[in-house]
Amino acid sequence: MKNLLTILLVFVMAFTFNSTAQNNSNEEYQYKPFIPPLGYEEAGKRAENVLSGMTLEEKINLIGGHNFFFIKGFENHKIPQLYLSDATQGIHIRSSLSNSMEKSVAFPCPIALTATWNVRLTNEYARSIGEECRAGDIAVLLGPGMNIYRVSQNGRNFEYFGEDPFLAARMIENYVAGVQSTGTIATLKHFVCNNNEFRRRTTNVIVDERTLNEIYLPAFKAGIDAGAMSVMTSYNQVNGEWAGQSQYVISNLLRKQLGFKWLVMSDWWSTWDPVKTIKSGLDLEMPGIISGSPVFKKTGDIFVKTNAIQLIKDGSVDEEDINRMALNILRTEIAMGLFERQVKDEGYLKNFEEHEKVALQTARESIVLLKNHNNILPIKEKKKMLLTGEFVEKLPAGGGSASVEGYDIITMLAALKNEFGDNIEYVEDPCDEQLQSAEIVLLSTGTLDTEGSDRPFDLPESVEKKIIEITAKNPNTVVIVNSGSGINMTGWIDKAAAVLYAWYPGQNGNIALAEVLSGTTNPSGKLPMTIEKKFEDSPGYGYLPEGESIVAKSGDDMNMDFPINTIEYKEGILVGYRWYDTKGIEPLFHFGYGLSYTTFSYSDLKVSSNEFRKGEKVSIEFTLTNAGKVEGAEIAQVYVRDVQSSVLRPIKELKGFKKVSLNPGESKTVKIELNEKDFSFWDENKKDWNAEPGEFEILIGSSSNDIRLKTTIKLL
Ligand code: BGC
Repeated sequence: MKNLLTILLVFVMAFTFNSTAQNNSNEEYQYKPFIPPLGYEEAGKRAENVLSGMTLEEKINLIGGHNFFFIKGFENHKIPQLYLSDATQGIHIRSSLSNSMEKSVAFPCPIALTATWNVRLTNEYARSIGEECRAGDIAVLLGPGMNIYRVSQNGRNFEYFGEDPFLAARMIENYVAGVQSTGTIATLKHFVCNNNEFRRRTTNVIVDERTLNEIYLPAFKAGIDAGAMSVMTSYNQVNGEWAGQSQYVISNLLRKQLGFKWLVMSDWWSTWDPVKTIKSGLDLEMPGIISGSPVFKKTGDIFVKTNAIQLIKDGSVDEEDINRMALNILRTEIAMGLFERQVKDEGYLKNFEEHEKVALQTARESIVLLKNHNNILPIKEKKKMLLTGEFVEKLPAGGGSASVEGYDIITMLAALKNEFGDNIEYVEDPCDEQLQSAEIVLLSTGTLDTEGSDRPFDLPESVEKKIIEITAKNPNTVVIVNSGSGINMTGWIDKAAAVLYAWYPGQNGNIALAEVLSGTTNPSGKLPMTIEKKFEDSPGYGYLPEGESIVAKSGDDMNMDFPINTIEYKEGILVGYRWYDTKGIEPLFHFGYGLSYTTFSYSDLKVSSNEFRKGEKVSIEFTLTNAGKVEGAEIAQVYVRDVQSSVLRPIKELKGFKKVSLNPGESKTVKIELNEKDFSFWDENKKDWNAEPGEFEILIGSSSNDIRLKTTIKLL
């Protein structure tokens, strides 16, 4: 009994924490990796014990999903039933499931979170979502999603963390640590190379090892190192095999190379060969149910759960294979204390108000000011403003499994009325006279992106036409873009007076927009991706099969009759700014770019030493000053350039950043440490990271294209 009490206390202590204040800087902050209450060995021993009492049928029922979103429980073995729920930007409520939550906070989408470049805030955002999971009896969060932004047309970019592996990795480690500090399991998804949604189930990605290691794996690696307890595989094939049944992907890349030990589950209906699935290293096949899925009309019943007995009988697999899968599920559950404690804790409901504050703070820091001609913003004096466009009265949000309904929704109209009162007039379809007589026009546009399909980089013709017309009629037009990814702005960017990228803001994020327009909040977001001038300029251009339309028809996502679309990642490591820099293609907006209502100056760059040896750290210091008249936050970025290399290397790569808040006239010293890995590339011969001796430039910038300070150091 005493023993049991001690264990319980360990779990309670492990998941108790104090709420920290919100902070729009991350100067002195360092996250703590998550360590499960019970270690791998100890949890494994207990799991073996439980497993030894289970029948083969029970084990088989454990390794396939239950009722779409559950891992089966077995009362006779005291194995709890566990609820798995989406996703990265809050809890997707499934009202079809009994006992589902009444409400959950709709946070700004993850790419917006990434635009804050605020790792501390990421931790708070994720911890809030972890708490909501606890309130809603959710043991496993089906997020964070973290596929790299390779094409702007990807319908799921809004769910992910942008184009840069270093930035994504820093956000993800904080996300994982935040969610799991509440006792909720975080699931890193989708492993790997699910970088577009166009016919995702019939896509075969051809990618080389160096590209995987430098671009597509780092965010997963960071999540694993931060202690993630679960990984979900992706729908696509990787080098010729579906990820969910690929030994190369699961046993090799994920388990052996990245060192992941805990639960690996498949994405929903993404495995096609039960023998391969069992042998791949996967533990849990989701959802384990056929009904409702037209995908099986052609393929038939190929679930592990329904075929395993026969497969054991005919010798295609062994009972030992089933044991391995079941053992790892149990081990993960036991390590997280799920055999000892209740998941549901309604005490967390009282924290929802705090979560709303975190959501709002995220929205504040996420908005990126792309253009501000003649400092039209902020709108300080009383001006007659006309508001028009698409998302004035309805909240724009990403769709699919990641969608979160939210509550107490604040529309753009409500938020702007609240901030500017009668100076705002909403006109759905303004005439020329109305447009011309307004002192400022606020024009809302954007896209509604969703899982299961991609969407064109270009806005629909009618929308594009309208923006061109309005910006031509009133030169004081401020365009507000709500989107989960880049859009084509080339046709009207010169005409617009100002442009704000406001992503999907979440249930209360329009308040942040109003604050930015009025100047109560100084924008500090920076782009986590490059926005190209035209889609043809981008590294992933050409991923659609010749002659095929990007617009998906109903049923396409589940249609397995399409021929396999082989997408060769020919650009290799040159994704995002690495591509535009190296190819000399000028994008419309560079990675890391974003304006403020103040200006920042950079000075006094010092490095700890001009020469360093392998294994040594290099410490960089510089002074950042707010040279303007209002308080603001700057995201200072450190890029590294290998001056001479035996292999192709990008012109520069992000290797450090800090978000620093400064009062007018204030200066702060910014310190960033680099280590050997920050100078390395993935060496395919050595199968390891390799930093080649020679010169490296250290570039300190306000964006990837606005380098303010520079020095050269030498690796001996
Ligand atoms: C998505 C996953 C999601 C799962 C369960 C799939 O369609 O790709 O991200 O977690 O559904 O909702």
